[in-house]
Amino acid sequence: QENVFQKIVAHSKEYGFVFPSSEIYGGLQAVYDYGPNGAALKKNIKDYWWAAMVQMHPNIVGIDSSIFMDSQVWKASGHVDAFNDPLVDNKDSKKRYRADVLLEDHIAKYQAKIDKEVTKGRKRFGDDFDEAQFLETNPNVLRNKKKIEEIEGRMKEALENEDMAALKQLIEDCEIACPISGTKNWTDVRQFNLMFSTELGAVSGDAAKIYLRPETAQGIFVNFLNVMNTSRLRPPFGIAQIGKAFRNEIVARQFIFRMREFEQMEMQFFVKPGTEMEWYEYWKDLRMKWHHLVGNKDNYIFHDHLKTAHYANAAVDIEFKFPFGTKELEGIHSRTDFDLGAHQELSGRKLQYFDNDMNQNVVPYVIETSVGLDRMFLSVLAGAYTEETVQDGEKTKERTYLKFHPALAPVKAAIFPLTKKDGLPAKASEVMQELQYDFNITYEEKDAIGKRYTRQDLVGTPYCITVDHQTLEDNTVTVRERDTMEQFRMPISELHAFIGEKVSL
Ligand code: GAP
Repeated sequence: QENVFQKIVAHSKEYGFVFPSSEIYGGLQAVYDYGPNGAALKKNIKDYWWAAMVQMHPNIVGIDSSIFMDSQVWKASGHVDAFNDPLVDNKDSKKRYRADVLLEDHIAKYQAKIDKEVTKGRKRFGDDFDEAQFLETNPNVLRNKKKIEEIEGRMKEALENEDMAALKQLIEDCEIACPISGTKNWTDVRQFNLMFSTELGAVSGDAAKIYLRPETAQGIFVNFLNVMNTSRLRPPFGIAQIGKAFRNEIVARQFIFRMREFEQMEMQFFVKPGTEMEWYEYWKDLRMKWHHLVGNKDNYIFHDHLKTAHYANAAVDIEFKFPFGTKELEGIHSRTDFDLGAHQELSGRKLQYFDNDMNQNVVPYVIETSVGLDRMFLSVLAGAYTEETVQDGEKTKERTYLKFHPALAPVKAAIFPLTKKDGLPAKASEVMQELQYDFNITYEEKDAIGKRYTRQDLVGTPYCITVDHQTLEDNTVTVRERDTMEQFRMPISELHAFIGEKVSL
């Protein structure tokens, strides 16, 4: 699996999806740039989200708020005081770790041991292998399961109580039992705030200190009144936004999974207090369906949070089976009136609506859906990456392709003139012109057709359209389908409707 992940990272770079930032200077850690195919895929994901969240809901409107905000915003939201990660340094190696991530690595080690036992069991028992029973009875599995439970339990308790000494003790115990760092000499665990700060204007000092937003949500909360009043909406209604967020993440790894500069697609849904759990269930369901529509259902699971963040009374993650483990993709949070209440108190402005049933002014409750655009990108890419063995005449050969849903594919169709002669390129340009206003189309005339197909497979183009000599006679083209590799002829006049139907959801 790790190997597949390395391949995906390499593939992203080789085929113009994702590049390390400032690469000619060695690359900036946990910051990435999107190449031509990456930018197109990212835009398609944004469009899909915006269509589903804003266009399809008459009571949800979109905004675009600024990255710089008054630092009071982050005081009220709790980020100045509570947006911390527990950090620990190894005194010998001088390496810095996020305490919880280091412990997760320990858990992963025990999980790997369990997986290994299962593989051995499967080999030994063949068709008779009963995995569920094996997991309940094999002594090695049980021992490792117990270890995992112990680490998880102690970690949860230490984090909940913000008991940094207990966290340090747990790390030391884990490192003695099964070292990851190779050394034992740890500093105390301390809290580290994740926000980036800078100064506004020419004066320096605390007065001018501002933060780069660590989430887009607060831009929505501080605009609650402006939007409600100008859109003539009353709860239940939502405000949606796509935009950059910044976090000084300590553990910078796993490619675009955890970045220091990233994009979020967030929606805050304002509801009457007391109705929030119904809406929470509604959005949980709808958001999962949204993922299922473009991805393999088996790759997504819900993970309920027992311990919720400082702002929520219920929270669930939609997790995705990434090649390096099952991890958070999207969060759905019931944020109560925490944010609006806090802003109301600090700003002195009433952030309320008049509720007719209750016959009074009320601070609404909020259900939030929050998905990282880059993380969604990685899930789409990982879900699409396919290696298979195919029959090539007598021989078999390996084929790698990106099986994107056509709606998300960066390029929808490639147009190929069979040869560079006989007026075929001119005819192919005509076909291109029919399609390029509505769809992202590419044109290629170099190399044999087979090679051109392979190149398009590698970037996930669902359709290749070849213009040949027959086209000049009857205005039909050959359409080759990416996943089945099947080919069929189609009149040029039908191409627009055909692609239009395939790329819609
Ligand atoms: N407004 C709520 C909020 O920001 P979060 O769980 O901290 O909640 C929401 O973040 C989503 O943003 C995550 O599920 C993830 O997809 C994405 N995200 C968070 N931190 C990220 C990072 N460092 N790099 C990439 N995506 C990130």
